[in-house]
Amino acid sequence: MSSNLGSGPKLAHQHQLGEHGRERQNIPSRITRRCAKVRPTRHPILVLRMIPFNPHVRDTGTPPIPEAQGWARHYDGSRGPLIDLSQAVPGYPPHPDLLKRLAEAAGTTAAAKYGDIYGDHSLREVLAAELTSLYRGKVEADEIAITSGCNQAFVLVAIALAKAGDNILLPAPWYFNHQMTLNMLGVEPRALPAHATNNFIPDPIEAEGLIDSSTRAIVLVTPNNPTGAIYPPATIAAFAALCRQKNIWLIVDETYRDFLPEGYGQPHALFNEHGWQGNVLSLYSFSKSYCIPGHRVGAIIGGQAILDEIGKVIDCVQICAPRAAQTALTWAIPSLNDWRANNTREITLRAAAFREAIAASPGWTLNSIGAYFAYVTHPFKDTSVFQVAEKLAAERGVLGLPGPWFGPGQEHHLRLAFANVAIDPIRDIPNRLAGFHI
Ligand SMILES: Cc1ncc(COP(=O)(O)O)c(C=O)c1O
Repeated sequence: MSSNLGSGPKLAHQHQLGEHGRERQNIPSRITRRCAKVRPTRHPILVLRMIPFNPHVRDTGTPPIPEAQGWARHYDGSRGPLIDLSQAVPGYPPHPDLLKRLAEAAGTTAAAKYGDIYGDHSLREVLAAELTSLYRGKVEADEIAITSGCNQAFVLVAIALAKAGDNILLPAPWYFNHQMTLNMLGVEPRALPAHATNNFIPDPIEAEGLIDSSTRAIVLVTPNNPTGAIYPPATIAAFAALCRQKNIWLIVDETYRDFLPEGYGQPHALFNEHGWQGNVLSLYSFSKSYCIPGHRVGAIIGGQAILDEIGKVIDCVQICAPRAAQTALTWAIPSLNDWRANNTREITLRAAAFREAIAASPGWTLNSIGAYFAYVTHPFKDTSVFQVAEKLAAERGVLGLPGPWFGPGQEHHLRLAFANVAIDPIRDIPNRLAGFHI
């Protein structure tokens, strides 16, 4: 298997700017050009040469969402307010009592101090109790590390598990920050195709063929970003068995687990397996479930041996997660169950409205939908999806993200984060798409 490090699909701006670090080094930066004009000199401090950056970081695309938001700034509002389907943010505010407790906690001296590297014990205890009840398998408080968000949880885990030159399997389409993180660490994000014909559920047998002696882990995101696909517990169990057999880690990002359909039950049975701590890591985010992405809180669930290693990384990267949010969440986890369930019901209604909207839009196809996201194909087969997305944002005020940002083979897809948007604007989507052409 040849490495595809740094040669994966690039973000849109890179198509314009040139893709590789080495090419870019030949382009004088604005700073060096300015220096050259002002005062040419032989003094060694002002030698006009670009000092190299980490090539793995240079070869990683810039964050895509701000770029897409730039397209929407060209929209003149003539068809109504922007329908922003670009980012997975809850389209409703946090619970008022949570905000109150956040404010109270933020005003205390205790919250101003450094806390435990692994998070406040009280928060880990209530989260452990919730996990034990939801998954019907015992999770202990000291099998949890609280992080500054789930993105950071992934960075911490990736550093702890893999070194430069290793590879980690990512089902493609993938969550772009996973790919970016691995790329920056010099770890190959190895694409495991998740086929539309299999509802974007990756196949453990196909995964087995991609594993080699440098593979350290397989990452599953369920419910999935970008497709919304929900991986059945049997598939997750098969991946866990494969990872055990191959002596590699299974990382399951469960950011959207609170948005599973009502009555879905146990998302998987991994925590029921004897010795799960030896090769399973689960990641969680408080951003979506509690509508507090700005407060940056997430979690890693794993065995003590791997958490000992991750603790070293946490100590360097964050020292401790934000304290006031931890205090407020300790109250919120057991107290806001009904509020969370209501939000999930609301998002299920939005999903139903979104299905109807795409069904009423000739030429557009819904390939997959679930939790927060819909994955659709557009009718303009011979046109770049970047062009389609940009024009759709600028002319019709509908902002989605092009599939190639989520990995190879996604050229005809758009990810639309319908959970952001209330039902009425979703119902307006067919009007926005009507008569749209390139
Ligand atoms: C799959 C997945 N993981 C992690 C995150 C980031 O979560 P957090 O805000 O907790 O860093 C997101 C956010 O979009 C996500 O979709």
